Amino acid sequence: MRWHDTLPSTNTYALEWLRDFPPEYSLIATDQQSAGYGRNQRSWHSRAGASLTFSFIVHPNQVEQGVMPLFSALAALAVCKAIASYPPNIDISVKWPNDVLLNGKKAAGILAEAAWQGDQLMGLVIGIGVNMQPTSLPPADELLFPATSLEQTIGCSIDRWDLLYHILQAFVALRTSFPSPEFMDAWRCKLAYLGEEVTISKIGKECQKGIFIGVDEQGYLLLKEKNGRISTFPLGDVSLRPNTL
Ligand code: ATP
Ligand code: BTN
Repeated sequence: MRWHDTLPSTNTYALEWLRDFPPEYSLIATDQQSAGYGRNQRSWHSRAGASLTFSFIVHPNQVEQGVMPLFSALAALAVCKAIASYPPNIDISVKWPNDVLLNGKKAAGILAEAAWQGDQLMGLVIGIGVNMQPTSLPPADELLFPATSLEQTIGCSIDRWDLLYHILQAFVALRTSFPSPEFMDAWRCKLAYLGEEVTISKIGKECQKGIFIGVDEQGYLLLKEKNGRISTFPLGDVSLRPNTL
């Protein structure tokens, strides 16, 4: 494990680190990211002392390489499991494919990025940011979706290194059944808005509304439209929003 007081982004650091062939589960954590990011370079907000921000490296085997986009679902499930190990009982769900919601508000973001040299996979970087304390949240006018922190939801502060340990432990345990039907079922069970009306949007494309009826064996979202047609959305650059928001 490596630690830096401040870094632009633990994902950027880990992607560069891959050039040195680091072993499985090499991990970089920081207290403060100055340029944390999510998909499409959208910024991820964090604050020193109030956020958990880290990235780790995995070297997917041949089978896992066939389902690479599902690694972020695996990480989301690991975060859910880790948070569930703390009392009290709260509603922990996953906004497809990988945002962790506590009582319906986003508390953790995950960004998995693969690095290739030609057709050779150098490794996969899994970056996780968790809002530990209320000050870790971005200003309300920057939010596209309601956000919360662990402390606000659970009602007491949690040690971020203890949480990090639980997330990694859960990730390693869940990976033993990845990507089996059991793993897919565990993920499906955690998905928010199943059976509800949602809107799916993709940059540069028209939004599609319908009922979120499930995910297929590849993790693609299945949307039943008003006319009865079922559309499939791959994991990637698609956003899901409940129509109640
Ligand atoms: P989507 O908008 O499709 O649900 P996403 O949830 O996967 O996307 P990204 O596209 O990766 O999110 O972009 C980051 C999003 O998270 C931005 O919309 C930003 O407003 C929000 N965000 C940034 N920092 C935080 C934070 N600390 N807590 C909660 N949300 C945050
Ligand atoms: C999302 O918004 O859903 C994804 C956000 C991912 C944030 C984490 S914080 C640690 C790592 N470093 C980054 O720059 N991004 C990820």
